[in-house]
Parts: sequence; structure tokens; C-alpha cells
Amino acid sequence: MAVPHAPSTAARPRIARLVRPADDAEAFAAAVAALEAGDLVAVPTETVYGLACDATNPDAVARLYAAKGRPAINPLIAHVADANAAAREAVFDDRARLLAEAFWPGPLTLVLPRRSDSAIAPSACAGLTSVALRVPAAPLMQGLSTALGRPVSAPSANRSGRISTTTADAVLDEVGDAVAVVLDAGPCRIGVESTIVGLTDGPARLLRPGGIARAAIEEVLGAPLADPPAGSASAPSAPGLLTSHYAPRAAVRLDAVEIDPGEACLAFGDIVPAGSVHAVAFENLSPAGDLHEAAANLFAALRRLDASGAHTIAVAPIPDTGLGEAIRDRLERAAAPRS
Ligand code: TXA
Ligand code: MG
Repeated sequence: MAVPHAPSTAARPRIARLVRPADDAEAFAAAVAALEAGDLVAVPTETVYGLACDATNPDAVARLYAAKGRPAINPLIAHVADANAAAREAVFDDRARLLAEAFWPGPLTLVLPRRSDSAIAPSACAGLTSVALRVPAAPLMQGLSTALGRPVSAPSANRSGRISTTTADAVLDEVGDAVAVVLDAGPCRIGVESTIVGLTDGPARLLRPGGIARAAIEEVLGAPLADPPAGSASAPSAPGLLTSHYAPRAAVRLDAVEIDPGEACLAFGDIVPAGSVHAVAFENLSPAGDLHEAAANLFAALRRLDASGAHTIAVAPIPDTGLGEAIRDRLERAAAPRS
């Protein structure tokens, strides 16, 4: 029987982990049952794998924050089946309706004023008066929300501050001990997280570049996107924007034109740093110089280079056009000073 709000217990019984093809009905049913019981499920979306829980269950939300080691001030994205379900949680203005119509289902997250009767646990929104909502294109995440009949909170399925996951193997490395079920649908199609647009505070703001390029959103809005409001460490506007994030074990050096001894090399198309044949390890994000292909390869390539044991990953100068803005954003945060 479905248990809407499972009681919190110090030591919860572990459900056997299933790693199965995503079209396996038994695995899907196990994932729904786990969500109903307040447990965590790893599920692919078109962007990255998510670590999912019932967004309305505060105990499940607490378990999710603990599994990621995520600070409680960093709110979660709630995934819903369609725009009607989203409208039950947040207040849509004309701009929000336009963007939802243009880009949902797909890799767009809208940060909107949270409705006072929203079913989403306040802790999943870090106590803010706004809520981040997304209707993913990936059928599995949508299906889970529909089967559960509630929104599903799902941050990227990595330990807080680390590289996001785009394969089930990477999920198992990152958060394998915390999940009841992993649904495996192979590598994610887009490979960088959703674009986040904030509509709570004056102009539409680009809170995080992602799988939909800035220009496509600006075209629908008919206006340029503003920058995020200035945040602070205790009240960040989109915390992932502000700190070291997406960090491999190795240091990351950006816009490298030459490889130093002991470095691994991340190239893009024919933008290849000199001396790359001497690199400890080498990856080209897209030999053809295609930014969509580069985004899809980014996190797995970083993981492989990190596994080489190189002390530093030297990254070629990647263009900042189109999806290049999201790729550069992730790499800049991977290179940011770490606390
Ligand atoms: O593609 C994606 O968006 C993936 C997949 C799983 O859907 N999810 C994802 O979640 O990237 P996460 O938790 O790794 O990143 C969510 C970002 C965080 O930087 C968080 O600070 C921001 O969304 N966010 C969530 N709610 C917010 C709010 N109310 N206001 C501002 N930023 C918010
Ligand atoms: Mg993340």
C-alpha cells in the first residue's frame, strides 16, 4: 500500500538496488514504490541523472539532502508531468506561460512565486517564497511524477559540489549507497543541466545557463535575459552559480593553449592545446566541433580525465556561443577555488 508520508527512522531498511534497463516495468514499479515509501531513486532525464524523492514528503527531502551532502540553503527543482501540474505549485505570469509553452517538456526550469497552497515541502524550496519547476522531456521522470501523483524533487545525482552524472555507472559511484533503485536508460542526450530562468523579481533572469541556449529564450521573450540578482553566501539567488561546483579531484585550468607536464587535456574540435600528445590523458569533447555533442560528452569526459590521476585538467578555449555558455559555466565552476 502506498504510504504518503513515511515516518522518519534512524536506520531505514534498505531496499535491494535494481540496476535495470529503463523500459523494465518491474524496475519502474519498484521505483514508484520506493518513492511512495520515502526512499530515493536515481532516474535519467534528458539533461543529467537526477536523485529523486517525493517532493511533498519532508522526511524524504531530508534524506535526499543528507545523501548529497547538500547544504539546506540550496533549494531543489520539482519535476512535474505537465504545465497544469506546475500551475498547482506556482504563480504563472504571461512570460512564464510563454516559456512553458515554447520549451516544456524540455530542459528549462522556471523559478516562480510559490503558491501558498503548494504541496511541495517547504524544505525542498529551502524555505524560499519561490519554487523551481521543470517538465522534463525524458519519459521516465515524467512517468514517475504521474504514477506518484505528486511532484518529484530531483537534484543532479552527484555528491554536492561534484561532477554531475550522465550514466548509471557514474550515479553508482556518486550516490550508490543512498538509492533504493537506479533506472538505467544509458547516457543522457543533452548532458548539461536545464537552463534556469527566474521570474520572481522584475526582469526575466538567467539564473543558470543550460540545455536551452540563452538566445532561444530571449527570442521567445522578445527581451534580453538579465543577470541573477547579487547573492550572498547565506542567501544565494541560485547557489550552484556562486561556489565551486562540478569539481573533479584534479585541479582545472581553463583556456589552456599549451599542456604542462603531468596535465590531462580536454580539447574541443580543432581547438587542441599544443603538446597534447604528451598529456597524461586526452579527450576531445567533439572532434567535429559541435557544441551539442560537446555538452553531451562533458561530464563523462571530465570523469575519465580525473580517473587518469593527472594533477590538473587543462581545458582548451571553448567558444561561449550557444550551448558553449553552459559548458564554459560548468568548467569555470569546476576551476573555482575550493573551500
Ligand atoms: O537538468 C536539471 O536541472 C537537473 C535534472 C535532474 O532535472 N537538475 C538539477 O538540479 O540540475 P540541481 O539541484 O543540481 O540544480 C538546481 C539548481 C540549484 O543551483 C539551485 O540553487 C537552483 O536550481 N534553484 C532551485 N530552486 C531555486 C529557487 N527557488 N530559486 C533560485 N534557484 C533555485
Ligand atoms: Mg547539480
